[in-house]
Amino acid sequence: MKGVVLAGGLGSRLRPLTRVTNKHLLPVYDKPMIFYPIQTLVDAGVTEIMIVTGGNNAGEFLRLIGNGEEFGLRHMNYTYQKNEGGIAEALALTKHFVGDDKVVVILGDNFVQGSIKKAVEDFHAQPSGGKIFLKEVDNPKEFGVAVVEDGKVANIIEKPEDPPTNYAVIGIYMYDNDVFNICETLKPSDRGELEITDVNNEYIRRGTMTYEFIDGWWADCGSFEALLRSNILVARERGVEL
Ligand code: DAU
Repeated sequence: MKGVVLAGGLGSRLRPLTRVTNKHLLPVYDKPMIFYPIQTLVDAGVTEIMIVTGGNNAGEFLRLIGNGEEFGLRHMNYTYQKNEGGIAEALALTKHFVGDDKVVVILGDNFVQGSIKKAVEDFHAQPSGGKIFLKEVDNPKEFGVAVVEDGKVANIIEKPEDPPTNYAVIGIYMYDNDVFNICETLKPSDRGELEITDVNNEYIRRGTMTYEFIDGWWADCGSFEALLRSNILVARERGVEL
Protein backbone atom coordinates (compact mmCIF):
# COMPACT_ATOMS: atom_id res chain seq x y z
CA MET A 1 0.00 0.00 0.00
CA LYS A 2 1.37 3.41 -1.00
CA GLY A 3 0.65 6.58 0.97
CA VAL A 4 -0.07 10.06 -0.38
CA VAL A 5 -0.20 13.32 1.60
CA LEU A 6 -1.90 16.16 -0.27
CA ALA A 7 -0.43 19.54 0.58
CA GLY A 8 -1.14 21.63 -2.50
CA GLY A 9 -3.62 24.46 -2.77
CA LEU A 10 -3.17 28.08 -1.77
CA GLY A 11 -4.78 28.01 1.67
CA SER A 12 -6.62 31.17 0.70
CA ARG A 13 -9.12 30.84 3.58
CA LEU A 14 -6.20 31.28 6.01
CA ARG A 15 -4.76 34.51 4.57
CA PRO A 16 -2.74 36.44 5.75
CA LEU A 17 -1.22 33.40 7.56
CA THR A 18 -0.62 31.76 4.18
CA ARG A 19 0.55 34.86 2.27
CA VAL A 20 4.24 33.89 2.51
CA THR A 21 4.08 30.22 3.40
CA ASN A 22 2.16 27.05 2.64
CA LYS A 23 -0.76 26.21 4.96
CA HIS A 24 0.70 22.79 5.78
CA LEU A 25 3.88 24.33 7.18
CA LEU A 26 1.99 26.37 9.79
CA PRO A 27 2.39 25.25 13.41
CA VAL A 28 -0.09 22.99 15.15
CA TYR A 29 1.05 23.15 18.77
CA ASP A 30 4.69 21.98 18.63
CA LYS A 31 5.00 20.68 15.06
CA PRO A 32 4.37 21.81 11.49
CA MET A 33 0.90 20.74 10.37
CA ILE A 34 2.12 18.23 7.76
CA PHE A 35 4.00 16.18 10.37
CA TYR A 36 0.72 14.82 11.74
CA PRO A 37 -0.67 13.17 8.57
CA ILE A 38 2.78 11.76 7.76
CA GLN A 39 2.94 10.25 11.26
CA THR A 40 -0.58 8.80 10.85
CA LEU A 41 0.55 6.96 7.71
CA VAL A 42 3.80 5.74 9.27
CA ASP A 43 1.94 4.52 12.39
CA ALA A 44 -0.39 2.57 10.09
CA GLY A 45 2.62 0.79 8.57
CA VAL A 46 2.60 2.82 5.33
CA THR A 47 6.20 3.79 4.66
CA GLU A 48 6.30 4.50 0.91
CA ILE A 49 4.93 8.02 0.86
CA MET A 50 4.57 10.83 -1.68
CA ILE A 51 3.85 14.43 -0.72
CA VAL A 52 2.01 16.54 -3.31
CA THR A 53 2.69 20.20 -2.81
CA GLY A 54 2.29 23.38 -4.84
CA GLY A 55 2.39 27.16 -4.75
CA ASN A 56 5.48 29.27 -4.08
CA ASN A 57 6.90 27.42 -1.10
CA ALA A 58 7.30 23.86 -2.38
CA GLY A 59 11.06 23.89 -1.70
CA GLU A 60 10.43 24.43 2.00
CA PHE A 61 8.91 20.93 2.27
CA LEU A 62 12.23 19.38 1.20
CA ARG A 63 14.14 21.51 3.69
CA LEU A 64 11.71 20.56 6.45
CA ILE A 65 11.12 16.86 5.79
CA GLY A 66 14.09 15.74 3.68
CA ASN A 67 13.93 11.97 3.36
CA GLY A 68 11.67 11.57 6.35
CA GLU A 69 14.45 10.48 8.73
CA GLU A 70 12.51 12.02 11.65
CA PHE A 71 9.71 9.53 10.94
CA GLY A 72 12.07 6.57 10.65
CA LEU A 73 11.85 6.62 6.85
CA ARG A 74 14.72 6.20 4.43
CA HIS A 75 13.16 8.04 1.52
CA MET A 76 10.44 10.57 0.81
CA ASN A 77 8.86 11.25 -2.59
CA TYR A 78 7.61 14.64 -3.75
CA THR A 79 5.62 15.98 -6.66
CA TYR A 80 4.34 19.41 -7.60
CA GLN A 81 0.78 20.54 -8.40
CA LYS A 82 0.93 23.62 -10.61
CA ASN A 83 -2.53 24.99 -9.97
CA GLU A 84 -5.18 24.60 -7.30
CA GLY A 85 -7.21 22.20 -9.43
CA GLY A 86 -8.68 20.15 -6.62
CA ILE A 87 -7.95 17.18 -4.40
CA ALA A 88 -8.59 14.65 -7.18
CA GLU A 89 -6.25 16.57 -9.52
CA ALA A 90 -3.52 16.42 -6.86
CA LEU A 91 -4.12 12.70 -6.36
CA ALA A 92 -3.93 12.03 -10.12
CA LEU A 93 -0.34 13.38 -10.07
CA THR A 94 0.75 10.38 -7.99
CA LYS A 95 -0.23 7.77 -10.59
CA HIS A 96 3.34 6.79 -11.52
CA PHE A 97 4.42 6.64 -7.89
CA VAL A 98 1.50 4.37 -6.90
CA GLY A 99 2.11 2.06 -9.88
CA ASP A 100 -0.07 -1.07 -9.61
CA ASP A 101 -0.58 -0.71 -5.88
CA LYS A 102 -3.49 0.45 -3.69
CA VAL A 103 -3.24 3.88 -2.09
CA VAL A 104 -4.18 5.58 1.15
CA VAL A 105 -4.62 9.31 0.69
CA ILE A 106 -4.60 11.82 3.54
CA LEU A 107 -5.26 15.53 3.29
CA GLY A 108 -2.32 17.49 4.70
CA ASP A 109 -4.60 19.54 6.94
CA ASN A 110 -6.45 16.59 8.53
CA PHE A 111 -5.67 15.10 11.95
CA VAL A 112 -6.99 12.02 13.69
CA GLN A 113 -6.44 11.17 17.32
CA GLY A 114 -6.50 7.41 16.88
CA SER A 115 -4.75 4.94 14.62
CA ILE A 116 -5.96 3.92 11.15
CA LYS A 117 -3.77 0.78 11.13
CA LYS A 118 -6.62 -1.72 11.44
CA ALA A 119 -8.64 0.01 8.69
CA VAL A 120 -5.60 0.02 6.38
CA GLU A 121 -5.13 -3.71 7.01
CA ASP A 122 -8.85 -4.32 6.35
CA PHE A 123 -8.63 -2.40 3.11
CA HIS A 124 -5.52 -4.37 2.11
CA ALA A 125 -7.71 -7.48 2.37
CA GLN A 126 -10.66 -5.85 0.52
CA PRO A 127 -10.57 -7.24 -3.04
CA SER A 128 -11.29 -3.91 -4.76
CA GLY A 129 -13.00 -0.55 -4.41
CA GLY A 130 -12.52 2.20 -1.86
CA LYS A 131 -12.91 2.90 1.83
CA ILE A 132 -13.77 6.14 3.63
CA PHE A 133 -14.10 7.29 7.23
CA LEU A 134 -17.06 9.15 8.68
CA LYS A 135 -17.39 11.31 11.79
CA GLU A 136 -20.49 12.89 13.33
CA VAL A 137 -20.06 16.67 13.40
CA ASP A 138 -22.06 19.75 14.44
CA ASN A 139 -21.22 21.68 11.26
CA PRO A 140 -21.82 19.25 8.35
CA LYS A 141 -22.33 22.09 5.83
CA GLU A 142 -18.54 22.57 5.77
CA PHE A 143 -17.71 19.04 4.58
CA GLY A 144 -18.59 16.22 2.27
CA VAL A 145 -21.67 14.65 3.92
CA ALA A 146 -22.59 10.96 3.64
CA VAL A 147 -26.02 9.38 3.43
CA VAL A 148 -25.92 5.86 4.92
CA GLU A 149 -28.65 3.36 4.03
CA ASP A 150 -28.80 -0.33 4.97
CA GLY A 151 -25.23 -0.32 6.23
CA LYS A 152 -23.83 1.19 3.03
CA VAL A 153 -22.93 4.71 1.96
CA ALA A 154 -25.64 5.61 -0.56
CA ASN A 155 -24.38 9.07 -1.58
CA ILE A 156 -22.00 11.86 -0.64
CA ILE A 157 -22.91 15.52 -1.07
CA GLU A 158 -20.12 18.10 -1.05
CA LYS A 159 -20.84 20.98 1.36
CA PRO A 160 -24.65 20.71 1.20
CA GLU A 161 -26.83 23.73 1.97
CA ASP A 162 -29.26 21.43 3.70
CA PRO A 163 -27.26 18.44 5.08
CA PRO A 164 -29.26 15.19 5.08
CA THR A 165 -27.11 13.80 7.96
CA ASN A 166 -24.31 15.04 10.20
CA TYR A 167 -21.86 12.38 8.96
CA ALA A 168 -18.81 14.23 7.64
CA VAL A 169 -16.51 12.39 5.23
CA ILE A 170 -13.06 12.96 6.69
CA GLY A 171 -9.95 13.57 4.60
CA ILE A 172 -8.52 10.05 4.63
CA TYR A 173 -9.41 7.87 1.65
CA MET A 174 -8.31 4.42 0.49
CA TYR A 175 -8.56 3.34 -3.12
CA ASP A 176 -7.69 0.51 -5.44
CA ASN A 177 -5.66 1.27 -8.54
CA ASP A 178 -8.73 2.11 -10.62
CA VAL A 179 -8.86 5.48 -8.88
CA PHE A 180 -6.55 6.89 -11.53
CA ASN A 181 -8.94 5.88 -14.32
CA ILE A 182 -11.80 7.48 -12.38
CA CYS A 183 -9.82 10.71 -11.93
CA GLU A 184 -9.42 10.93 -15.72
CA THR A 185 -13.21 10.95 -16.21
CA LEU A 186 -13.90 13.84 -13.79
CA LYS A 187 -15.18 17.27 -14.81
CA PRO A 188 -14.46 20.42 -12.76
CA SER A 189 -17.15 21.31 -10.23
CA ASP A 190 -18.81 24.72 -9.79
CA ARG A 191 -15.79 25.78 -7.70
CA GLY A 192 -13.53 24.79 -10.64
CA GLU A 193 -11.99 21.76 -8.91
CA LEU A 194 -11.79 18.02 -9.58
CA GLU A 195 -13.66 16.83 -6.51
CA ILE A 196 -12.72 13.83 -4.39
CA THR A 197 -16.44 13.52 -3.63
CA ASP A 198 -17.04 12.68 -7.32
CA VAL A 199 -14.41 9.92 -7.07
CA ASN A 200 -16.09 8.55 -3.94
CA ASN A 201 -19.54 8.66 -5.54
CA GLU A 202 -18.25 6.63 -8.48
CA TYR A 203 -17.09 3.87 -6.10
CA ILE A 204 -20.49 4.08 -4.36
CA ARG A 205 -22.22 3.71 -7.76
CA ARG A 206 -20.14 0.58 -8.41
CA GLY A 207 -21.12 -0.83 -4.98
CA THR A 208 -17.49 -1.20 -3.88
CA MET A 209 -17.18 1.59 -1.29
CA THR A 210 -16.87 0.55 2.36
CA TYR A 211 -16.81 2.89 5.34
CA GLU A 212 -16.26 3.08 9.05
CA PHE A 213 -16.71 5.67 11.76
CA ILE A 214 -13.41 6.98 13.05
CA ASP A 215 -12.67 6.67 16.77
CA GLY A 216 -11.44 9.64 18.78
CA TRP A 217 -11.37 13.21 17.60
CA TRP A 218 -10.87 14.36 14.04
CA ALA A 219 -9.91 17.88 13.02
CA ASP A 220 -9.03 19.76 9.88
CA CYS A 221 -7.39 23.16 9.56
CA GLY A 222 -9.43 24.72 6.78
CA SER A 223 -10.45 27.84 8.73
CA PHE A 224 -9.05 29.95 11.57
CA GLU A 225 -11.46 28.31 14.00
CA ALA A 226 -10.51 24.80 12.83
CA LEU A 227 -6.78 25.63 13.04
CA LEU A 228 -7.18 26.95 16.59
CA ARG A 229 -9.24 23.91 17.58
CA SER A 230 -6.55 21.58 16.16
CA ASN A 231 -3.87 23.36 18.21
CA ILE A 232 -5.94 22.99 21.36
CA LEU A 233 -6.76 19.32 20.74
CA VAL A 234 -3.11 18.44 20.13
CA ALA A 235 -1.88 20.47 23.12
CA ARG A 236 -4.41 18.76 25.42
CA GLU A 237 -3.33 15.41 24.01
CA ARG A 238 0.19 16.28 25.22
CA GLY A 239 -1.18 17.02 28.68
CA VAL A 240 -0.93 20.79 28.42
CA GLU A 241 -3.40 22.66 30.62
CA LEU A 242 -4.85 25.66 28.81
O1 DAU B 1 -11.44 18.04 5.60
C1 DAU B 1 -12.34 17.13 4.99
C2 DAU B 1 -12.98 17.73 3.76
O2 DAU B 1 -11.91 18.01 2.80
C3 DAU B 1 -14.00 16.76 3.14
O3 DAU B 1 -15.12 16.59 4.01
C4 DAU B 1 -14.51 17.31 1.79
O4 DAU B 1 -15.36 16.37 1.19
C5 DAU B 1 -13.31 17.57 0.86
O5 DAU B 1 -13.75 18.14 -0.36
C6 DAU B 1 -12.33 18.52 1.53
O6 DAU B 1 -12.96 19.77 1.69
P1 DAU B 1 -12.24 21.20 1.69
O7 DAU B 1 -12.96 22.13 0.78
O8 DAU B 1 -12.12 21.63 3.11
O9 DAU B 1 -10.80 20.92 1.09
P2 DAU B 1 -9.66 21.98 0.86
O10 DAU B 1 -9.87 22.73 -0.40
O11 DAU B 1 -9.45 22.80 2.11
O12 DAU B 1 -8.40 21.06 0.67
C7 DAU B 1 -8.00 20.15 1.69
C8 DAU B 1 -6.56 19.74 1.45
O13 DAU B 1 -6.41 19.13 0.17
C9 DAU B 1 -5.58 20.87 1.49
O14 DAU B 1 -5.13 21.05 2.82
C10 DAU B 1 -4.50 20.44 0.53
C11 DAU B 1 -5.17 19.47 -0.43
N1 DAU B 1 -5.39 20.08 -1.75
C12 DAU B 1 -6.52 20.83 -2.00
C13 DAU B 1 -6.73 21.41 -3.26
C14 DAU B 1 -7.97 22.21 -3.54
C15 DAU B 1 -4.45 19.89 -2.76
O15 DAU B 1 -3.41 19.22 -2.51
N2 DAU B 1 -4.65 20.46 -3.98
C16 DAU B 1 -5.75 21.21 -4.29
O16 DAU B 1 -5.87 21.68 -5.44
